[in-house]
Parts: sequence; C-alpha cells; structure tokens
Amino acid sequence: MSASLRVLDPSFPSYTIALEQAEHSVGIEALYDRCFGFGRFAKTAERLREGNQLLSDMSLVAVDANENVVAAVRLWPLQVGDAGRAVFVGPVAVDSLYRGSSLGLILTQQCVDLAKKAGWPMAILIGDEPYFSKIGFQQVSTQAYPAPGYIPEHRLLAIELEDNAILENQGRLSVPHVAM
Ligand SMILES: CC(C)(COP(=O)(O)OP(=O)(O)OC[C@H]1O[C@@H](n2cnc3c(N)ncnc32)[C@H](O)[C@@H]1OP(=O)(O)O)[C@@H](O)C(=O)NCCC(=O)NCCS
Repeated sequence: MSASLRVLDPSFPSYTIALEQAEHSVGIEALYDRCFGFGRFAKTAERLREGNQLLSDMSLVAVDANENVVAAVRLWPLQVGDAGRAVFVGPVAVDSLYRGSSLGLILTQQCVDLAKKAGWPMAILIGDEPYFSKIGFQQVSTQAYPAPGYIPEHRLLAIELEDNAILENQGRLSVPHVAM
C-alpha cells in the first residue's frame, strides 16, 4: 500500500498512510517511547508481542511530509486456545501534534480491514473501550481469554471479522510457535 489518505482538515499538517517498512522502525520506537514511556515493556500486551513476528503486511504508519512517523499501529498473530487464532492490535499511538484528528482510529480501522481481507477471524486489543468502541471493538471476558499476565476486565476488547468468531474462538492467548 502507498499513499492512501491525506488529512483534509486544514488545522492538521498533512500525512500519508503506508505499510510499515524497516526504515520506519526507529521512528516508531521513538513515537512509542514518547507516548508510553519505558513502562510499556512491563505490560501484559508486551508478553504477547515479545518473541512474536510482526504482521508487516497489515501494520500501518502515518508519516508527515518529511517522512517522520507521526502515528503507528502494529498487528501481531495470536494463538487462541489450541486451534483458534486472532490478530493482536497495538500499540496504537499518535504524535501529540496530530491528536484530535482521530488518526489512531483511522489507522486501526485500516489495519483491521487488512486483517479481515487476509482472512483473520477476529482482532483483539487491550485498551480504552470508550475510544476503540468508536470503530466497533467490544469488551470480552478475560476469563474466556486468559493471558500471560493481568488484564483489567474492562480493557480486553475484540471485534469479529467473521460471524460468531468471538463465540467460536475462545481460550488462552499465546504467541504462536509457528507462522499462522
Ligand atoms: C489514544 C490516542 C491514540 C488517540 O489519538 P487520536 O486517534 O488522534 O484520537 P482523538 O484525540 O482525535 O480522539 C478521537 C475521539 O476519541 C476520544 N478519545 C481519545 N482518546 C480517548 C481515550 N483514551 N478514551 C476514550 N476516548 C478517547 C476523543 O475524545 C474523541 O472523541 P470524539 O470524536 O467524540 O470527540 C492518542 O491520544 C495517543 O497516542 N495516546 C497515547 C498512547 C495511548 O494511550 N494509546 C492507546 C492505547 S493502545
């Protein structure tokens, strides 16, 4: 994917959305450090990312006119129980200059659309329900999806990309041992 969307609201500088490439990784890490601090590595979500392989064909960045990364959303494969699977969304981050433009929601929606096109049955994330419900994520039970660490009940969210996926895809969340 190359340029697919530009901000039309004149109060925000323009940006371009693209698939994440190796050249973006330094800018993405710097953005995540600015948005979350070093404590991000202690989160349960990180236990589902470490040792995992980024789905680079559906992880997106927004870059400004100077090619600086101003927003990023990453997707990862997850094993759900013994035989289920889901994409894990995050971190979702937007540079402070661009907040108020819904750029995080726009990028997340586009990532989820790519996952649906690629045949993934559902997407899962750990985040704020009032924010992510704007694009259809709903709270799901942490008992139905045990994880390697604590997740507050109200922060485990999912969206179905196939009918009944949430009902049919339950179990422990883990990093897949083989590519899914
Ligand atoms: C959260 C974040 C990605 C939102 O950026 P954004 O997509 O530009 O969102 P906006 O600021 O334009 O807000 C869009 C809407 O969501 C709401 N919103 C924003 N952050 C929210 C939150 N944490 N909880 C609930 N609602 C939120 C806004 O009020 C706004 O609502 P409205 O359209 O009804 O006015 C950005 O603030 C950020 O990077 N924060 C730090 C990192 C973070 O917390 N990431 C999310 C966890 S994975």
